[in-house]
Amino acid sequence: MTTEDPDAAARRLAAVSLAADDPTGWFERLYAAAADGAAVVPWDRGAPHPLLVEWAGPRDLGGSALVVGFGPGFDAEFLAAHGAATTAFDVSPSAVAAARERFPGSSVDYRTADLLAPPPEWRHAFDLVVEIMTVQSMPPAFHPPATASVAGFVAPGGTLLVIATASPDAGGGGFEGPPWPLTRAEVDAFAQDGLDAVSVEKLASVPPWHRWRAEFRRGGVAP
Ligand SMILES: C[S@@+](CC[C@H](N)C(=O)[O-])C[C@H]1O[C@@H](n2cnc3c(N)ncnc32)[C@H](O)[C@@H]1O
Repeated sequence: MTTEDPDAAARRLAAVSLAADDPTGWFERLYAAAADGAAVVPWDRGAPHPLLVEWAGPRDLGGSALVVGFGPGFDAEFLAAHGAATTAFDVSPSAVAAARERFPGSSVDYRTADLLAPPPEWRHAFDLVVEIMTVQSMPPAFHPPATASVAGFVAPGGTLLVIATASPDAGGGGFEGPPWPLTRAEVDAFAQDGLDAVSVEKLASVPPWHRWRAEFRRGGVAP
């Protein structure tokens, strides 16, 4: 097992990918190293995100759900346990393999896919879409296409939940990522392609960080 700080190790891997104009290649290298015990996934909380748990409450969610960039998989398992027929995707095949191994017998459909080129059949297909800290894990130039993809997954009558890091002044500029925290304007940009904002909250987190939690809804009724 490595003794390097997990965040520093992840940034070191990211720097190599980003220098080669590859915004996501480092995720596979990180998850593959973690599977070999040579790295730690810094965002592996061992539990669903507390802001997702609080938002969902005890209700039965039902319907279909899509988890974007699922990472360790706890958010997807949480949605499935609350009655949603859940699909979850990540750009890293090793993340998919790790989740299948970690949750044997899970009802979650874990898939390898790229948010920047998602399967066309996912367009307007999910009653609930959950995006937690994936858009911000790519450099800002990729935020607009990634945001458009996320918004496009929501079915008529469906809901999008976004949880992301905000810089203390919500300005975002000058921060050397990863991650690249979302500005207020970037959060507001999820309201596109027929989605309307229901709520945008800026919540205190570990100082000096804040988190966005934002909910969007597409009008209409699921077919
Ligand atoms: C910072 S982690 C967050 C993981 C998880 N959502 C969470 O909150 O714990 C970002 C995740 O998104 C995945 N990811 C990054 N870019 C992606 C892309 N273009 N398409 C799909 N997944 C991506 C990474 O592999 C990683 O698992």
